[in-house]
Amino acid sequence: MKVGMLTGGGDCPGLNAVIRAATRRLHDAGHEAIGVIGGWRGMTEGVTRPIDRSAIAGILPRGGTILKTSRTNPFSVDGGVGAVLRTMEGMDALIAIGGEDTLGVAARLHAEHGLHVVGVPKTIDNDLSGTDLTFGFDTAVTIATEAIDRLHTTAESHNRVMVVEVMGRHAGWLAVQSGIAGGADVVLIPEFPMSVERCAELINHRHASGRDFSIVVVSEGWPLTHEAGSGDMATQVKDLDAFGHVRLGGIGEQLARELERLTGFETRVTTLGHLQRGGTPTAFDRVLATRFGLLAATLVMDGEWGMMAGLKGADVVPVPLSEAVAALKTVPRDYYALAEAFFG
Ligand code: F6P
Repeated sequence: MKVGMLTGGGDCPGLNAVIRAATRRLHDAGHEAIGVIGGWRGMTEGVTRPIDRSAIAGILPRGGTILKTSRTNPFSVDGGVGAVLRTMEGMDALIAIGGEDTLGVAARLHAEHGLHVVGVPKTIDNDLSGTDLTFGFDTAVTIATEAIDRLHTTAESHNRVMVVEVMGRHAGWLAVQSGIAGGADVVLIPEFPMSVERCAELINHRHASGRDFSIVVVSEGWPLTHEAGSGDMATQVKDLDAFGHVRLGGIGEQLARELERLTGFETRVTTLGHLQRGGTPTAFDRVLATRFGLLAATLVMDGEWGMMAGLKGADVVPVPLSEAVAALKTVPRDYYALAEAFFG
């Protein structure tokens, strides 16, 4: 078989580990691996190149993706779907490695056009259903936690409030997990919007009980909300991508200004941004990505089209792509409560 492979959406530590594992398994069984360059854009433009043994040498610990990526949506490109199907004529199957958007396209192409596609779930946001975890999340949490640890010491020296903005468009997994691990004093996420006044109250309470610094972790998708008024989401929106998602950024700055005004404490902000996506994956993510890549290749060889590799408990198992993209996996109330237990 000739098996195509693409990486789509935001890059994520562990993509290369998936490519390496899937390629190794395919090669060992006598199949060919073909890299599609630049995600779905590569499929619409027919840009491919073989993945040989030398292409995957040494890539296990490397961040990013050797196949490049894009946020192209073939369903919103004129003639995009037809072009994808034409590129597919040169392949027997496709492994799509991506998040809700990339896998959403894969699921649709499978359902509507019978595409021989298998998925692998990636995103540092960890917001995909059908899998307990996505690879890349552990690395991003580790980076954010280390940043929070470092900010603690400087916050303490200067008696400051430190706001740390982390990624997470619709789901606060990164904020909650790094907030718990880093001992944040308040964690603000899109799922359970807290007013800025309540956040200030929690900080005042902490300072009244003898502490003179605080750490606030905020998801980029948290809507700045005043008790008296509505959310301020519009001011955070910069742009829309091909999937209609808002491009976020800047909520940390606004929050810091409001907290300084409401509490009177000197406040600084650190936006971690793409630092959370860059660099080498943790050992956990390398192993998870490797397990996903191996299963994806097996699913291809078994002709299990429309399926994805997912983590359920300790096992990596096949899951229908349709299940993965049906609804975003957001932070449940009882998990947020673990962070809340340390607020203020
Ligand atoms: O989907 C992953 C993600 O990192 C989000 O957390 C973030 O909102 C978005 O990608 C940023 O996208 P870009 O790299 O295109 O700015």
